[in-house]
Amino acid sequence: MTQHAILKMGDPRLLRVAQPVVQFDTDELHLLISDMLDTMAAANGAGLAAPQIGVDLQVVIFGTDAPNPRYPSAPLVPRTVLINPAITPLNPVEGGIMPALEDGWEGCLSVPGMRGVVPRYARIRYSGFDQYGDPIEREVDGFHARVVQHECDHLMGILYPMRIRDFTQFGFTEVLFPGEEIVDD
Ligand code: NI
Repeated sequence: MTQHAILKMGDPRLLRVAQPVVQFDTDELHLLISDMLDTMAAANGAGLAAPQIGVDLQVVIFGTDAPNPRYPSAPLVPRTVLINPAITPLNPVEGGIMPALEDGWEGCLSVPGMRGVVPRYARIRYSGFDQYGDPIEREVDGFHARVVQHECDHLMGILYPMRIRDFTQFGFTEVLFPGEEIVDD
């Protein structure tokens, strides 16, 4: 078990554009992913990107095998290791003209104790590779699509507050949701 400190907003390492992984199935990559899984589990995170532990590589993990205490009502997202990802927005309706955005609350382990409403594509296709170099391609919507977009933003140096359009819907979790049990954030 190796848990790393999670960098917080203000650290310039969170603003870098991450480098692609060029070699798969290496001891180094497996160790990084094992450390990321330990770090995410310890923080009850919905996802984690390598830059959040100071590693400048295009690696994200997300999802759980059990409901997340931070998002108890969220649909289950399968545990996924996604490397060198690409995202394509999709039309939520057949024949639609534009990929639709939908608003939803987000938090981030690098912005502890806060929540904000962020517009994200409602439906996306994402692709990339797992740690063995095997390709991944999925079409997803809703919370799953939101988590993937949030994590992949970290690889471009974007934190969710940079995406907020309505700052009346950004604040401290304990103030916005006073009844909600805050597990860890
Ligand atoms: Ni985040």
